[in-house]
Amino acid sequence: MDFTNKTVVVTGAGKGIGAACAKLFFDAGANVALLNKGADETGINDHRWFAQQCDVSVEAQVKASAERIKERFGTVQYLINNAGIQRYGTVTETGSDEWDEVMNVNLKSIFLCAKYFIPYMQEAGKGVVVNVASVQSFVSQRNVAAYTTAKTAILGLTRSIAIDYAPTVRCVAVCPGTIDTPMLRDAIQLSPDPEEVLQECIDMHPIGRIGTAGEVAEVIKFMCDDAAGFITGQYIRVDGGLGITINGSKKEAL
Ligand SMILES: NC(=O)c1ccc[n+]([C@@H]2O[C@H](COP(=O)([O-])OP(=O)(O)OC[C@H]3O[C@@H](n4cnc5c(N)ncnc54)[C@H](O)[C@@H]3O)[C@@H](O)[C@H]2O)c1
Repeated sequence: MDFTNKTVVVTGAGKGIGAACAKLFFDAGANVALLNKGADETGINDHRWFAQQCDVSVEAQVKASAERIKERFGTVQYLINNAGIQRYGTVTETGSDEWDEVMNVNLKSIFLCAKYFIPYMQEAGKGVVVNVASVQSFVSQRNVAAYTTAKTAILGLTRSIAIDYAPTVRCVAVCPGTIDTPMLRDAIQLSPDPEEVLQECIDMHPIGRIGTAGEVAEVIKFMCDDAAGFITGQYIRVDGGLGITINGSKKEAL
């Protein structure tokens, strides 16, 4: 699909999956607006590229950014809710401020961006919201109580948006497995043996490797395409088979 004259908003687009996604839409002709907490490090300077420094968990910042994007591009048809943070801890270890931070950045941001961008889609007569969830929306691991809770709740919010705004706006969730991004690289550095942890991540995926940001971005773009026009309220895993096995990718029987 050619996205010329269409506007795509991508949150958390400074690096990782968000940056790959923003570039993919840009290459497909779209006007791209980036909402990122940090500075835009892509080096792209073009009239179709509009980087906004915005903490998507803060309502006033999302509202102001939405107004600036509308002023710049006139309309918004696609919203990619990708911004997310990973924090570690069980419920007894997680402070309530940290719990709130994880909920606000991973979940409330989707509510806020949907709240301020869906009216533009309704004006345009058509739109798609893609929420980046996780395999941790379905299966879990130790020590990620807040993150897995937020990622699971995203599926419920996806269904609500899909029902409330159909048929004008479609809403889907894309659920990555382990993807090679700064988030992953930072996480494995917390271990005394990062290479071993990386190998464990690789071994969990029957496909035999971890995924790339570009592979997730391609699925997000497809979900925005008219070819996916009969898909709404659903999720799709982009996880190399992680989550379909009983014993990871171990070759031996249980
Ligand atoms: N990398 C993985 O293995 C993996 C797996 C499953 C799901 N995900 C999800 O994919 C999404 C992207 O992950 P990634 O690996 O590319 O992460 P990343 O840490 O590499 O990049 C995240 C981006 O979000 C931005 N961001 C963080 N908080 C923000 C805020 N409050 N407001 C605006 N921007 C903010 C960061 O500045 C950064 O540019 C996240 O929602 C993450 O939970 C990632």
